[in-house]
Amino acid sequence: MEKVAQALLLSTLIATPAFRAGAAEIRPLRLCADPTNLPFSSDDPARPGLYLEIGQLIARKLERPVTYSWYKSYFGKRTVRETLLKRQCDAMVGLPEVDDFMGPAVIFSKPIAREGYALVSAKGRNIGDVDDLKGMRVAVQYQSTPQNLLAQRDEIEKVTVLSPDEGMKLLDQGKVDVAFIWAPVAGWLNKAAYGEKYQIRTTAGEGLVWPTAIGFAKASTGLRDDVNLVLPSLQEDIDKLFAKYGVPSDVPVKFGELGGPTAIADAGPSEPVTVGQSAGDSKPSEIKATASGDISAGRELFNGTCGHCHGPDAVQAEKRINLRLMKKRYGSDMEATYWKTVHDGRPSKGMPAWKEVYGDDELRNVLVYLQTVQDAADGSN
Ligand code: HEC
Repeated sequence: MEKVAQALLLSTLIATPAFRAGAAEIRPLRLCADPTNLPFSSDDPARPGLYLEIGQLIARKLERPVTYSWYKSYFGKRTVRETLLKRQCDAMVGLPEVDDFMGPAVIFSKPIAREGYALVSAKGRNIGDVDDLKGMRVAVQYQSTPQNLLAQRDEIEKVTVLSPDEGMKLLDQGKVDVAFIWAPVAGWLNKAAYGEKYQIRTTAGEGLVWPTAIGFAKASTGLRDDVNLVLPSLQEDIDKLFAKYGVPSDVPVKFGELGGPTAIADAGPSEPVTVGQSAGDSKPSEIKATASGDISAGRELFNGTCGHCHGPDAVQAEKRINLRLMKKRYGSDMEATYWKTVHDGRPSKGMPAWKEVYGDDELRNVLVYLQTVQDAADGSN
């Protein structure tokens, strides 16, 4: 989910019931979760979020206490690598159970739900397939399946947004007719912020919906099997939790069938766990900066973190966030603009601040990398 990234790794362990000495075999179930990611998780005990409540249900069934390791889920696969795979926690609720999601390093429980994209609009609008969107203004999330799906439909006016929140806002301001955005967040916002004003139709089709499950590090087969054993008895409560947080559970509209070989260029979940496609299995924590800057380390960090919005290798059709145009745009002020923007962000415009997240050595690597991919300032390119 797009949001301003603040502290990276808080690792705060709270809510740990005191353990009896001598009961060492009862180890807590340690969950990794994002402290500010409703409807999924939050560090507000009054409203812990869907995934945390599911984790709590499971722990209770397993007769184990719960502890939390907080980490911003902002970084997608990187988060999983830094938390679950480094044994900061035992389980992460709500990972997409799809083939290309970090298998075989991550193993999954049985699915707990299906999540995907939904069409949000004024009540009473009847949208049964893509053609019904003709002539409408439709908000789509940047680099999402809906964006790819509608890319070649000139008769549908697309408005790119960087988050479901932004899509809901445009809908509410009357700037779009439909928001084709991530369903759980749409449902939650509709309930929590918009008084259930909008209708939400979930969609089905390639890359529009996927099963979510509980993820474990691959060695945790014992825990995975224990969880699988208790899941069936919890499914009804889990479904209730989804409803409690406003997540839509209607019968999906079959939506992903329009033709064109490139219509679905990037199928698969793009929220909240997928980062720039070239992130690969890089290990940003091992980056060592050199004095002048390490281009390949910079590229790796860029693709793992910034490429999510600015495009892999900074290739980006949306001019406003195309960082290959910085030299053209700012000339000799490029460096100064880079440092100011990257340190402080432009929170109101959707650019997070990074100075609490990365050191200047790492950020310099990114700058040095970006300098190697600038479009020619003289227009010859
Ligand atoms: C959540 C999406 C998002 C992420 C992630 C992100 N940015 Fe941005 N960034 C933006 C947006 C949106 C803008 C444009 C803000 C505006 O309109 O002024 C921007 C602007 C910038 C600019 C100024 C560009 C210009 O031409 O003025 C720089 C430099 C930049 N980002 C660098 C980075 C770097 C480096 C990272 C990774 C460490 C990063 N960004 C990660 C969304 C993001």
